[in-house]
Amino acid sequence: MNGLISGDSEIVGKSLIIKEKLSFIHKAAKSDKNVLILGETGTGKDLTAKKVHEFSDRSNNPFIPINCTNIPEDLFEAELFGYRRGSFTGAINDKLGLLEVAKNGTVFFDEIGDLSLHLQAKMLRIIEKRELRRIGDTVTRKIYARFIFATNKNFQEEVKMGQFRKDLYYRINVITFSIPPLRERKEDIPLLVNCILRKERKGGEPRKQINQWAQNKLMAYDFPGNIRELENIIERACILSEGNILTENDIELENELVSNNKGVKVTQELLRRTLETCRWNKTKAAIKIGKSRRQFYRLLEKHQMAGCVRRNYLL
Ligand SMILES: Nc1ncnc2c1ncn2[C@@H]1O[C@H](COP(=O)(O)OP(=O)(O)OP(=O)(O)O)[C@@H](O)[C@H]1O
Ligand SMILES: [Mg+2]
Repeated sequence: MNGLISGDSEIVGKSLIIKEKLSFIHKAAKSDKNVLILGETGTGKDLTAKKVHEFSDRSNNPFIPINCTNIPEDLFEAELFGYRRGSFTGAINDKLGLLEVAKNGTVFFDEIGDLSLHLQAKMLRIIEKRELRRIGDTVTRKIYARFIFATNKNFQEEVKMGQFRKDLYYRINVITFSIPPLRERKEDIPLLVNCILRKERKGGEPRKQINQWAQNKLMAYDFPGNIRELENIIERACILSEGNILTENDIELENELVSNNKGVKVTQELLRRTLETCRWNKTKAAIKIGKSRRQFYRLLEKHQMAGCVRRNYLL
């Protein structure tokens, strides 16, 4: 078996690291303890968290991802605990918090390293007490969901610099897995490429192939954006290629893209397709290609597409 296949997303790879990851997922799924997933951007932290949930007894309950970078400080409790109608201006209806919505499922706190010190103190209380009180309510309720955390930060450094609470770090660092960058497990690249080409295949079209030179070019590259970057490169190559076989000329690496005109056209087409897939929702499109909203806007501007978006056509 080349990996772990389930639902529409699969974990692909044959490296020792991937085997360790699969065994970690099964172990973590059996336990109820807090899980911490570490790794650079694009290494597969989200996917790993989802798999732990899918393979656990909680899989019939919701999986609720919460991006800690995006939670405004003053809405943290309202989002997580929920509130009673009238408990503050704007609370026009009762609202369930995400910790209750999750029921017996899994709450995935993504980018936990981005939480402010103030919110870290609140998070510590949630983990220790496993109770919540909806804002404006008097009843204390138990939290049944299991917690998974992820970060691309170096926690030990953050703790040393006083930017992350040591006590919180110990609470979440119970079952931990660190996903190594793609450049340290290049033997997985061919399998990943095949998997991406399978996903890229449209309708009744035959699946595109990749020639040896293109493969060699990928094997020589370091992928600072990891698997997400590999996906983007293959998606671009599929747009660019004229036949059914991707050649080395179709493989445009990040540094080549900025310097050539063909790259600009391909990026424009990729941005257009991404926006189309996301029904012109720029936040979703930014997430899909692994950029922040601000970076996405800059990319649109750089490719003279910022104005066109509003009229829903680009090229
Ligand atoms: N082992 C794998 N096999 C196949 N696809 C993978 C694997 N790992 C990750 N991917 C794919 O790579 C992409 C990035 O993965 P994911 O979003 O889980 O990364 P991440 O570490 O959470 O990134 P970020 O730090 O930017 O949030 C996704 O499309 C995911 O499906
Ligand atoms: Mg992620």
